[in-house]
Amino acid sequence: MRNHAIAVIPGDGIGKEVIEGALIPLRAAASKYGFSLVETTFDWSCETYIKTGRMMPDDGIETLRRFDAILLGAVGWPETVPDSVSLHGLLLPIRKRFDLYANIRPHRLLPGVTGPLVKKDFDILCVRENTEGEYSGAGGRVHIGQPQEVAVETAIFTRHSIERILRYAFEQARARRGQLASTTKSNAQKFTMVLWDEITEELAAEFRDVKVTRYHVDALSARMITHPETLDVIVASNLFGDILTDIGAAIQGGLGYAPSANINPNGGVPSMFEPVHGSAPDIAGKGLANPIATIWSGAMMLDHLGEREAAANLMEAMSRVAADSSRLTPDIGGNARTLDIAQYVADAL
Ligand code: NAI
Ligand code: MG
Repeated sequence: MRNHAIAVIPGDGIGKEVIEGALIPLRAAASKYGFSLVETTFDWSCETYIKTGRMMPDDGIETLRRFDAILLGAVGWPETVPDSVSLHGLLLPIRKRFDLYANIRPHRLLPGVTGPLVKKDFDILCVRENTEGEYSGAGGRVHIGQPQEVAVETAIFTRHSIERILRYAFEQARARRGQLASTTKSNAQKFTMVLWDEITEELAAEFRDVKVTRYHVDALSARMITHPETLDVIVASNLFGDILTDIGAAIQGGLGYAPSANINPNGGVPSMFEPVHGSAPDIAGKGLANPIATIWSGAMMLDHLGEREAAANLMEAMSRVAADSSRLTPDIGGNARTLDIAQYVADAL
């Protein structure tokens, strides 16, 4: 029997509900395809922070290192813990310490899901730089609380990290429809984004079969809404990718449908799979959350673990449920509950 050791971090709010849901069809897929997901659940969350003063223990990263993959729900409970504390205490350290530099976010409509756009034939893969850029955490505040208070936050861009994320994106484009949209704002940001453009040109000479187009992030945001069918792979910095993928989520039917993978393509460390959405305090604890984004993230995890057939079958089962208008959660006008949808997907397998 093939065993895959999975670290499960449900986190806060609906994170707990969508993880409980996603594990139902994931376990069903494992038993159908003859492998085992050996789960260890960690209660690292804002609740843990309130009790212990830490989002995760000091040796949390070392604990996670021995797993094959991490499945995460969502982290954040702004009522009790500032988002800057919860994000920098758990999610960002995992991404940075394991160098999960490629954040992969597919944006396409599942069959039968309509979304808000008129044009519905888009299939976009967003590749977001996940370790530095605007989210490097470099900066500080001085004269705190005084009228002359100053806050400085420096975006860090290194040739090393720009080149590897662009290379990964060029490779994805080559394996898909051969088109790459590179996102910058190099008219206004004349150091970091100009470096990004220059490295894009250098790699374009190497990937001559890929057609690369440079977009400013504002224009690309609009294009994702007006002409999404013209886009194949998008590559973007940490902040720009964060924003663009919320647009991607919106056009694919909402945050309930948007999955993501945090990958270190070199291997040797656990990659992390999570929905794009957060802990949704407004609906938490009510069983109303849409688990599709987390189930889809779980399918990406199975694929990453080499369980290709199980991943494809899970996607197919999930798509069949998503296409059934009598099986929708309230975010898209239905009245099914989180665990109902999860069970339907398991049954469809
Ligand atoms: P959010 O994604 O939690 O919620 C935004 C809106 O979408 C809410 O109205 C929510 O009800 C709805 N929504 C999200 N996921 C849904 C689902 N699966 N089914 C149905 N409706 C869904 O974003 P928000 O409100 O900005 O952040 C809440 C907390 O989550 C904050 O603490 C934030 O920092 C954290 N957060 C964590 C993320 C992560 O762990 N990766 C990502 C984004 C936010
Ligand atoms: Mg985001």
